[in-house]
Amino acid sequence: MNCENMTVLGIETSCDETSASVVRNGREVLSNVIASQIDIHAEFGGVVPEVAARKHIESIGWVVDKALKDAGLTLNEIDGFAVANGPGLTGALLVGLSYTKALSFSTNKPLIGVNHIEGHVCANYLKSFVKPPFLCLVVSGGHTSLLAVRGYNEYDVLARTRDDAAGEAFDKTARVLGLPYPGGPNIDRLAATGDPTAVRFPRTFFPGEDLGFSFSGLKSAVVQYMAKPGHAPVEDVAASFQQAVVDVLTARTMTACERFGYTDVALAGGVAANRGLREAMRRACEERGYNLFMPEPIFCTDNAAMVACRGYYALTAGQRDGYNLNAYATRF
Ligand code: KG4
Ligand code: ZN
Repeated sequence: MNCENMTVLGIETSCDETSASVVRNGREVLSNVIASQIDIHAEFGGVVPEVAARKHIESIGWVVDKALKDAGLTLNEIDGFAVANGPGLTGALLVGLSYTKALSFSTNKPLIGVNHIEGHVCANYLKSFVKPPFLCLVVSGGHTSLLAVRGYNEYDVLARTRDDAAGEAFDKTARVLGLPYPGGPNIDRLAATGDPTAVRFPRTFFPGEDLGFSFSGLKSAVVQYMAKPGHAPVEDVAASFQQAVVDVLTARTMTACERFGYTDVALAGGVAANRGLREAMRRACEERGYNLFMPEPIFCTDNAAMVACRGYYALTAGQRDGYNLNAYATRF
């Protein structure tokens, strides 16, 4: 296999986005097609797994065709196929997995399964010159972790959330505030017009060496606050909630950098698109002279370019999967 000029087609169907992308050499994004199901799930206030899987089946064919067309390539010009096979909704993952296996089998080109969260980390390599080692804060709908990224295929998990993920806290809080799904972007928009000092919500920091996160207490605090009569305007509550999340994420990331000696910091996952978080991280890193890397917002939320990139590093390291590759719901 030619690793010098390698073109990978990535496929992502772990939740409510059907995405396909062609990436050259793990960095050059030739195409990135994303078919969102947001409008369908908004009606239910959240992602309905069976509906998501059915919609992926409807979309996967044209999404892959468009990704190839946008890249100006034929299927036979692809050197390898990468697919997110977990963590995620199993039924949804199986659609992308089956489709990718068929593409690999019919072209006789290698298949690689990619961990979705590792994919989020790799979004930092797209259109960028960032290189490991660096410290990465991963903040998605299901995960909130601090990773010591030691190489393209090597990392240690330094801390995780003990309960809710940051994105989950955004989504649940949005519901309490009467905002539609998806909650995160809606809180982000509303918070921009509110006063982040209006309500002092709790910030959870575990004592001692523990860098772990906890957001369920914050979510409960918002629920209790909103149940009281005469609460602050909703934009002030949104801004105050967001500030509490951003304060904890930023402080813990900076502590981890100091403790483990990192000066290069990266963000990943859907919540990394949050404007408040991006600005707070920019300021904190600037004060300390650290280098901050943040994928463009479109590469923070779910996309197949990050999957293709993760696949590129696994394939060039000689890793391959067989057609017995399966999906998994939770492993990270
Ligand atoms: O990484 P992602 O797209 O999917 C998962 O792997 O989970 O993350 C989705 C999460 C959702 O909870 C969504 O509300 C949140 O990321 N999110 C945001 C923003 N955009 C997406 N949260 C805060 N501000 C945003 N701008
Ligand atoms: Zn994701």
